[in-house]
Amino acid sequence: MKEWDSFNEIVKAKGMWLTDSNGNNLLDGVASMWCNVWGHSKPELINAITKQSKKLQHSSMFNLTNEPAEILAESLVKISPGMHRVFYSDNGSSAMEIAIKMALQYWNNIGEMKKTKIATLENGYHGDTFGAMSVGYVPEFFGKFKKQLFPTIQIPVPNKYRIPKEYSYLDYQNFCLDKIEKQFSKDDKIAAFVMESGAQVAGGVNIFPKGFQRRISKICKKYNILLVLDEIATGFGRLGSMIQYTEQKSIPDIVAYGKMLTGGYITMAATLANKKIYDSFLGEFYDWKHLFHGHTFTGNPLSSAVANENLRLYKKNNLIKKIQKTSKVFEEYYDEIGEIETVGDIRHKGMLMGIELVKDKKNKTPIHPKKSINKIFFEEGKKHGIYLRTLGNIVMLVPPLAISEEELDLLLNRTINTIKSAQNQIL
Ligand SMILES: Cc1ncc(COP(=O)(O)O)c(C=O)c1O
Repeated sequence: MKEWDSFNEIVKAKGMWLTDSNGNNLLDGVASMWCNVWGHSKPELINAITKQSKKLQHSSMFNLTNEPAEILAESLVKISPGMHRVFYSDNGSSAMEIAIKMALQYWNNIGEMKKTKIATLENGYHGDTFGAMSVGYVPEFFGKFKKQLFPTIQIPVPNKYRIPKEYSYLDYQNFCLDKIEKQFSKDDKIAAFVMESGAQVAGGVNIFPKGFQRRISKICKKYNILLVLDEIATGFGRLGSMIQYTEQKSIPDIVAYGKMLTGGYITMAATLANKKIYDSFLGEFYDWKHLFHGHTFTGNPLSSAVANENLRLYKKNNLIKKIQKTSKVFEEYYDEIGEIETVGDIRHKGMLMGIELVKDKKNKTPIHPKKSINKIFFEEGKKHGIYLRTLGNIVMLVPPLAISEEELDLLLNRTINTIKSAQNQIL
């Protein structure tokens, strides 16, 4: 906070552009924290909220239900192969807490009391609440709470740019997969394996190599360990597929969605489970098999109504196809970005790009400037008319999914200029 003496107040937004109280327009390169789909002020989404707000703003999912939430649950199950039921919450961290509780309680429900451990990938991120921090332990973010977090088994993850010297990329993938297999074969107390689907985003835009996730899902099956996937940042088109786990050929037992579920308009998240998990929670009341979890705004009708409209628009506009085409624009800029003095690596899939900045390219030395790189790039980005954020040394480009090719061109050009003019402040 010491670095931030003031903040730009965003007063309105339209399409891909945010407008602050001084009248400055910023192209939204962050999709308002990775959740915006159609751009801002989309009439259909506003109408869905307005219409619903005149009928029912909120009731509860304790003993009750509501139509928009029911319609949404049906749609989510329909687009999610292998999934059977939906549990709503209002943010991604909660959706992951629920996923973890479901996975742990499943084993308890079926009488396998010893299965209580969770395994995860190093460098994953699943949110900021305690369970989510435990399974998604990024040391820089959560080191201060290490003692309070529950222990997990952490498996190394291949990052193509930073593979240990003695390995090739492929060898290191096999090394990680072998580690999982060895761990699973010797430990029958593992309940679930938790990972992001397709890529680790907050952990540095680490896109999984082809087949990696599929092989993990196979190992999980072999050792009867539940697979819990987090598609909060990577599903719904961010990586170019509606449901990332279908592309990865790895059907989970439990999956979490969030962020883009409502087009990024109202907070909502969902945890979906397969029939095996769901059925284990059914019992007589005094069997105490139910999931003791519920949030005030679970299944909120406004969020559900806008999510339903959002899903309708995905279909109507063939958004996934459009993303696949538009995202090719990123590729046209690989060379130009790669030539910048401080750019060590570019990682890109779908509507996600991470540009890793280094002190020197040859040794891949990380940068440690006095100020936060995020602050430097945010200020510099503003001068170029873009809203940009970095995560550590990585410049993230996460635009609204429906961005046009022209606007993506503009975003990339302005990002290049921003990096060029900011880099002497960080070296
Ligand atoms: C993969 C992943 N999981 C979970 C979360 C947490 O979501 P929320 O910020 O809505 O709690 C995030 C947020 O960035 C995320 O990227």
